[in-house]
Amino acid sequence: MIFNIAGRRVGLDMAGEGVPMVFLHGFPHDRTLWSHQVSALSLKARCIAPDLRGFGESDVQGPYAMEQYAHDVRALLDHFDIERAAIVGLSMGGYIAMACWRAMPDRVMGLALLDTQMGADDDAGRAKREALMAKVRSEGAEAAVQAQLPGMVGKTTRAQRPDLVEKMAQMMRSAPVEGIVGALTAMRDRPDSSGTIGTVSVPTLVAVGDEDVLTPVAKAEQIAAALPPGTVRRLEVIAGSGHVSCVERPSAVNHALSEFLDAVQSF
Ligand code: MLT
Repeated sequence: MIFNIAGRRVGLDMAGEGVPMVFLHGFPHDRTLWSHQVSALSLKARCIAPDLRGFGESDVQGPYAMEQYAHDVRALLDHFDIERAAIVGLSMGGYIAMACWRAMPDRVMGLALLDTQMGADDDAGRAKREALMAKVRSEGAEAAVQAQLPGMVGKTTRAQRPDLVEKMAQMMRSAPVEGIVGALTAMRDRPDSSGTIGTVSVPTLVAVGDEDVLTPVAKAEQIAAALPPGTVRRLEVIAGSGHVSCVERPSAVNHALSEFLDAVQSF
């Protein structure tokens, strides 16, 4: 579905009733990353999966920053008269989920941080972002596919599910150049979220594929360790999955999200 939200065209999937759950995709993905979760979790929640600005069917105009994407989530909640929602983010979506907590903790009922990390880019990481921006500007989205695909899925998926590797390649290939460059800018400039994690006071799920090489298990452990001791938290390591655990091991991720939702509801 396409909506006009705060003067912007936003592509999104919405299904189910109950606690609102907003699903934020990673880089350079679109909302179809969450198709398994939207169909399973909509049996017990109101699932909303938007295309972030610059991706899928959403408008490509900037500015691009984590704080801006979080502002877009706020506009989405306002548009649908949703006071509070559980925010689920994978990788870059996790960076945005943390920015949501920073910007509007009163609107966040819970955080599910999948295959992500809380630190900022170091100098080498920023230089890599800039090199990829230049390559994408001159060669198009295929440059991002070549850069990201090797780390995107785990070795098990690569060996057993070539169809999923191809699905991820297609998704990334269809991303607009401006959206890719915008997201790279936002990731390059994102702040360190360690302090943010230290203030979280809502139920939090941290999940990661055990074969994730982009944001490995150690990054998830750092987030879990930085959450305040009183927080309802859970660290879930998804066996046989790489970076896109929601696509590679949907049942395991759905199960973890379902339990997360129970924790949010009873909080
Ligand atoms: C993502 O999947 O969103 C990206 O790998 C995150 C990143 O490059 O930092």
